[in-house]
Amino acid sequence: MTDPHASTTGGKFGPAAGQARLIVEGDRPLPGRRQFLAWLTGGSLVTVSALALGQVVRFLAFEPAAEAPTAIPIGQPDSYALAALTYIGAARAYIGRDSAGLYALDAVCTHLGCLVEQSAGGGFACPCHGSHFSADGQVQSGPASKALRHLALELNQDGQVVVDRARPVAAETRLAINA
Ligand code: FES
Repeated sequence: MTDPHASTTGGKFGPAAGQARLIVEGDRPLPGRRQFLAWLTGGSLVTVSALALGQVVRFLAFEPAAEAPTAIPIGQPDSYALAALTYIGAARAYIGRDSAGLYALDAVCTHLGCLVEQSAGGGFACPCHGSHFSADGQVQSGPASKALRHLALELNQDGQVVVDRARPVAAETRLAINA
């Protein structure tokens, strides 16, 4: 039986005797398939290595952003009216005042961290997934399962109230003020 791949003048797959194996352009032969694949592989390795090296350099040069301060001055105590609730954006907290003094309620929802808003009927509602909290931060409906935090308040040297987001306190804690 005749092999369809066999050359009539050469071996089974090789060039026939006397035939050039590669196309010649000028006096430089074009690369063979193996050589081309070797170049391609080598080029890919160089590219991947350069990208990886770039990532390593970026990692080593990374400087984390400075942490936001947790103690935030929020003004003079007498700027908070009795029975009023004031949202202080810089502190992400509601500052309230009752007969015992000032208190701070964290506005960050305990579900996934959205900022709660005062609701018309008193208390707070989260605009993200609909949790509701009472006026003192207790969960009334989820998905949040934890109460809003109450945060420590103190006076600094200038007599300003400072809210400390890193110091949660009991709900009944108050900063007594003279006024
Ligand atoms: S973040 Fe407030 S309910 Fe989901």
